[in-house]
Amino acid sequence: MDRFIIYGGVPLHGTVHISGAKNSALPCLAACLLTEQPLILENLPAVRDITTTFHLLRTLGITLEENDVQAGASGIPARRRIVAHARQITNVEVPWELVRTMRASTLILGPLVARCGQAQVSLPGGCAIGARPIDLHLKGLEKLGAQIAVEHGMVIARADRLRGARIYFDRITVTGTEDLLMAATLAEGETVLENAAREPEVRDLAGLLTKMGARIDGVGTSTIRVQGVPRLTGATHGVIPDRIEAGTFLAAAGIAGGDLTIEDCCPDHLLAVIEKFRELGLSVESPTPTSLCAQCENPLRAADMTTEEYPGFPTDMQAQYIALATQASGPSLITETIFENRFMHALELVRMGANIRIEGNRAIVRGPTPLSGAGVIASDLRASASLVLAGLAAQGETIIERVYHIDRGYEHIEEKLRAVGAQIERVSS
Ligand code: EPU
Repeated sequence: MDRFIIYGGVPLHGTVHISGAKNSALPCLAACLLTEQPLILENLPAVRDITTTFHLLRTLGITLEENDVQAGASGIPARRRIVAHARQITNVEVPWELVRTMRASTLILGPLVARCGQAQVSLPGGCAIGARPIDLHLKGLEKLGAQIAVEHGMVIARADRLRGARIYFDRITVTGTEDLLMAATLAEGETVLENAAREPEVRDLAGLLTKMGARIDGVGTSTIRVQGVPRLTGATHGVIPDRIEAGTFLAAAGIAGGDLTIEDCCPDHLLAVIEKFRELGLSVESPTPTSLCAQCENPLRAADMTTEEYPGFPTDMQAQYIALATQASGPSLITETIFENRFMHALELVRMGANIRIEGNRAIVRGPTPLSGAGVIASDLRASASLVLAGLAAQGETIIERVYHIDRGYEHIEEKLRAVGAQIERVSS
């Protein structure tokens, strides 16, 4: 199992290039199931969840042709392009091994039922950040006319042809919206998704589906209307930049000091994060529509933050924000409203010297506290990013175990950080 060894206290200088968004690439890959024609996807990030999705699609009989395009001098294979061709779907069952590795496997439920009239997907269990049920995906599919049964831990969905319906989400769900959006494209008649997620990744997926011939209105608002069509065609699509990766590098500039230019990103998707980081005292500018510059010259000051659905402050940046708040002067109250158990990183940060108290869904961080290097354990993807950030600020050596979590969603984070001066290395054991 790989670990990271970080020597902190080195300011960062230089340019970082942002990869394609994992959470956009995942539903876009699932969309290949909706058509017999080839789908060409570009700017896929080279992260483990994408490799897992390739494996999943291959188990369903989909052919995938991959080409890596080298990204400049670093030699990091990036801008990955794939031709996904679901000419025939030979299997409609996704086993527990795959769902256990990656919950987003459930994204194939909607497209499979819509195209094949059936799907069998293991029901995901709880996970490190919360219960994360998929009841809203299932209720929505039932509304579209699918029959759903859960047997031996498998969700079994069947339908002749899905029929359009009005679906209200009790809670805003990102992959739930994406799953049902895909299903609705091939349903008969009109589907209306109410209280739908407005995340840029949902918009990106809808953009791809529209290129494939889907008829979708209202994306980016909480009411999405879909007029079903009998079939979709192939298309070519580049996925949007990863806003959470970009936000994580902004946080890196804040915690380590120095100045970073972040290229190939979409500042418009990061407005809440940029505003909050400015409130903390980080200078963030957007010199072009695809870049950001972050500089930390003055001491940081505490600022409260509450996670919200888009366009609010993303839960996927909460762990990184807490790391930054440990270096801000005064108390910061951080309220997590999306997942009930997303503070595992806080306990590890305390081991590094942070002053954090957890009360239910709130964390009170009192700073600034000097951090000192320690052995810590990554518990999930964003928690790992928070520990890396803390390691950049800590005195001495930080050893982060279980970095496979970070490899799920950050493309070669250690190489990108090293290129801007961080002392971080990956050690395999
Ligand atoms: N929820 C339900 N029932 C459902 C679906 C969701 O109760 O059927 C609840 C969840 O338990 C949670 C809330 O609704 O409390 C929101 O969950 P959502 O469904 O929006 O989360 P998700 O779609 O499973 C995606 C991202 C997550 C990100 C969340 C919130 C992907 C593949 N995953 O998850 O990303 O945190 O939206 O923005 O898009 C990550 O990248 O590290 C990550 C966890």
